[in-house]
Amino acid sequence: MSDEKTSAPVLRAHAEEAFAGELAALAARDDRPRPPGWRLSPWAVADYLLGARLPDGTVVTPKYVGPRRIVEVAVSTLATDRALLLLGVPGTAKTWVSEHLAAAISGDSTLLVQGTAGTAEEAVRYGWNYAQLLANGPSRAALVPSPVLRAMADGKIARVEELTRMPADVQDSLITVLSEKTLPIPELSGETQAVRGFNLIATANDRDRGVQEISSALRRRFNTVVLPLPATLDDEVEIVSRRVGQLGRALELPELPGGAQEIRRVVTVFRELRDGLTIDGRTKVRTPTGTLSTAEAISVVTNGLALAAHFGDGVLRPADVATGVLGAVVRDRTTDQAVWREYLEGVLRDRDGWQDFYRAAREMSG
Ligand SMILES: Nc1ncnc2c1ncn2[C@@H]1O[C@H](COP(=O)(O)OP(=O)(O)OP(=O)(O)O)[C@@H](O)[C@H]1O
Ligand SMILES: [Mg+2]
Repeated sequence: MSDEKTSAPVLRAHAEEAFAGELAALAARDDRPRPPGWRLSPWAVADYLLGARLPDGTVVTPKYVGPRRIVEVAVSTLATDRALLLLGVPGTAKTWVSEHLAAAISGDSTLLVQGTAGTAEEAVRYGWNYAQLLANGPSRAALVPSPVLRAMADGKIARVEELTRMPADVQDSLITVLSEKTLPIPELSGETQAVRGFNLIATANDRDRGVQEISSALRRRFNTVVLPLPATLDDEVEIVSRRVGQLGRALELPELPGGAQEIRRVVTVFRELRDGLTIDGRTKVRTPTGTLSTAEAISVVTNGLALAAHFGDGVLRPADVATGVLGAVVRDRTTDQAVWREYLEGVLRDRDGWQDFYRAAREMSG
């Protein structure tokens, strides 16, 4: 049961719960016009995403680190009759931004459809409770609404994850929803009309088999916003530090000294291998096959913290992150192994202040 309440703390709270205090403080201050059905004005939604200090001293933490304009375009799109498509390479916070937008606008980020090759039309439209259907025939009571249908009925934001992984005909069942703002239910000779406040955010990964797979008819219903990789080393370090801090607190890992330095190193290694160039712009390096995303840097450091906290001496050491770095870089044994060795010996060995990291990484690499 989705609405079952238990007293045990959940592993991961939804954004609207985790940041309920910030959202309430923003709503209390918000005197700008709110689009119909919105909990906050577009301005306040942007502040929620990007962070702000309110006049009463409340600090709204930044959720998204990146150009303000991107967030403004995304938020204002949702106030129009077009839906929002967040596009980008893996780990650029598409899912994260989508969740926070839905939380800030509708107070509910849970109306979610996960797109896979096996996603059926019922996941986007509606299904039936067969016991009810057989007993009483088609009726509203026998209908099982999809998250999209519930968002329409409640005037909320629906989320579709990985739109381009869904079969084309399932994707296209969104066309009527987005253009007519209604979902016909022929079995009941009826329909559900979207209430004001309804809109839809889809995410898609542009490394997946092409986005051209979205039919042009559906594509026209979306405004596309591309989320870029973090522009600078400092930006990416900030993103990773912030998320690692939050995750660490959620997992009740102790705060460990040495974190800042290792985070900077992990991010440096990832950026250099991803860009094919050292940060100082002097040395070209080969790029491994895997995607070294910000999301992976976050998990490498979080794993490192757990290692250091439970098995180490209370300080985050290079050895705690080296295994994770190696695992992220070397996906394909033959080619990536050589790329890693070259980088290790050609770049890290002689880098000032990196001796301990180099040694740890070398030991791991065997
Ligand atoms: N610019 C950014 N600002 C804030 N957090 C970011 C940023 N980029 C990445 N992250 C963090 O990276 C993590 C992964 O992001 P997310 O899962 O949303 O990526 P995604 O784009 O949906 O990736 P995928 O294509 O693999 O689904 C999140 O924890 C998020 O906080
Ligand atoms: Mg995602």
